[in-house]
Amino acid sequence: SKFLGLRQGLVAVGTCRHLLPPHCVAFTRKYREFRFCESDVVIATFPRSGTTWTQEIVWTMRNGLDFNAASNVSLDFRSPFLEFDSLHPLHKDLSENLVTSFLSRHPNEDPRLGGVFLQLAELASTPRTIKTHLPFSLLPDLLGTCKVVYVARNPRDVCVSYYHHQKSLKVAEFIGDFPDFVDLWCRDLCLQAPYWDHLKEAWERRQHPNFLFLFYEDMKENLMKELKRLDAFLGTGLTEDQLRQVAEHTGISHMKNRSSVNPGSSSYSEQALKEGRRDFIRKGTTGDWTNYFNPELEAKFEVWMKKGGEVAEEIPFKYQ
Ligand code: A3P
Repeated sequence: SKFLGLRQGLVAVGTCRHLLPPHCVAFTRKYREFRFCESDVVIATFPRSGTTWTQEIVWTMRNGLDFNAASNVSLDFRSPFLEFDSLHPLHKDLSENLVTSFLSRHPNEDPRLGGVFLQLAELASTPRTIKTHLPFSLLPDLLGTCKVVYVARNPRDVCVSYYHHQKSLKVAEFIGDFPDFVDLWCRDLCLQAPYWDHLKEAWERRQHPNFLFLFYEDMKENLMKELKRLDAFLGTGLTEDQLRQVAEHTGISHMKNRSSVNPGSSSYSEQALKEGRRDFIRKGTTGDWTNYFNPELEAKFEVWMKKGGEVAEEIPFKYQ
């Protein structure tokens, strides 16, 4: 497509097909064989569904409310992205830090062997809180090994948020307008699409004891309630007052201005984001889609919604 500078790859897994960045396609076997351990917590999402927010919450809860480290150490290191492409030229600085850190621990090994991008997750200190956008079908043993927090968000808001994200990232090279993006979205041509397959794979696992299914909208509506669910699920045993501190620390305005979580205000993003773009963490609201969809786009989106079938009808999305 003329709108997508990034070449994507199609991975067929069983009956599911997912669009992944090219490096992910080459390394699907490596992800499948990645050694997760019992103490890992994986934050799994379709992009733009509240991943960063949830990572910051879960990391803070699991690390004794270490607000100092949370402010000073990049979330990329504290809560690594499983399929991060550290060989991409735009990630050069981060990759060099990675390689240095890898060599300090494994002086006899060549960090370039075996796909350096997995090492960010391998190197993280335990307990690890790992981010992934991969669908469950590519991580088949995950729930048998560790806990997974999945965050879903209403697809219209995800679409709007994804549009801004793709406009911001140099690596995405998206040059279209919102209607062009809706067109890509409705043809399931965004990275990690199809959205419905991603959601379905998560939704059907929601009763698993190692799995917690959260909604972005519920977090916005009553964060304390969701933090209590997280506390019980993670076994962190935090007090009401401590959970309040977590809520305060992860509020949108605080996260927006914190360079450790918002790439829009760190030096890394100077490379990753286009000139003047500061919106990796953007509005953080529900229902922003009403500011973007005209009746024509809405009609198109409605047709796409039907592709979700029973899952789309069953999942209780709010602010639709
Ligand atoms: P918007 O673009 O609608 O503002 P992800 O981390 O999965 O990429 O999701 C990004 C979305 O989560 C963005 O949505 C971003 O602004 C929002 N977000 C990030 N931090 C947040 C927070 N602390 N509270 C609410 N929303 C947040």
